[in-house]
Amino acid sequence: MSISQELESYFSCPPDDTSLSDISLNRLPSHVSIIMDGNGRWAQARGLDRALGHKAGVSSLKEIVTASVRLGIKVLSVYAFSTENWKRPQHEVTLLMHLFATTLVKELPLFAQENVRLRFFGNIDALPATTRKVFKQGLQQTQHNTGMVFALAVNYGGRYDLVQAAQSIATQVQDGKLKPSDIDEEVLSSYLYTSGLPDPDLVIRTSGEMRLSNYLLYQIAYSELYITKTLWPDFTKWDFLRAIKSYQERTRRFGGVRS
Ligand code: FPP
Repeated sequence: MSISQELESYFSCPPDDTSLSDISLNRLPSHVSIIMDGNGRWAQARGLDRALGHKAGVSSLKEIVTASVRLGIKVLSVYAFSTENWKRPQHEVTLLMHLFATTLVKELPLFAQENVRLRFFGNIDALPATTRKVFKQGLQQTQHNTGMVFALAVNYGGRYDLVQAAQSIATQVQDGKLKPSDIDEEVLSSYLYTSGLPDPDLVIRTSGEMRLSNYLLYQIAYSELYITKTLWPDFTKWDFLRAIKSYQERTRRFGGVRS
């Protein structure tokens, strides 16, 4: 089976749904970032505990990671836990930390098979010891992979990202390694958690909320936003194609005029 036949078959779907032929594989967004929202509502609508919503969310995530690799997306990042999510009930926070660690351990063979390199956005040093250990193990084991970068934003906040960058830059200036006049957009970017990665071209938010929730505030200045009412556990590879199709229908002007 050729690569394109394999891809066709992976994305085969009912004829009235969005299909692979609706998108152009040579104009894909380089970096897709997702605010995965709606796990709790998905569970509550079924009379289930919120925990089961997060577990179902892991299945969606796995599907979207696989779909992204197959399509040839260069960077996929997802907002898994914000600096504000510590305010959730303790048992939910514990469950999420456990889920991140167990999922990562379980999926390490998949990352090896798919040549996926892991990254984390956020202060992972402040996470519980087991989660931190697994994350560091994941970074180490995937560091030489050359395929898609899969970045998990955990204990991440856009404002905190800017604060920690400002602190690092100030230290460099204090130590005489950087002059204030050297600080430009490129230098600032290089101190953010996303350092070395392209800014997101497309940001997808599930569950219909029209807000950014303190996510990648600096980096998404010119990202295209796609908001769907679909709850994260219901989000499929075809929903992903639909978001990419919508992105490809837009004209990106970056403040300029249409050429
Ligand atoms: C938002 O839904 C979702 C989260 C805060 C957690 C997202 C985490 C996962 C999908 C698991 C990912 C696993 C790994 C390994 C990264 P919500 O709980 O805010 O939903 P609600 O708004 O309906 O209450």
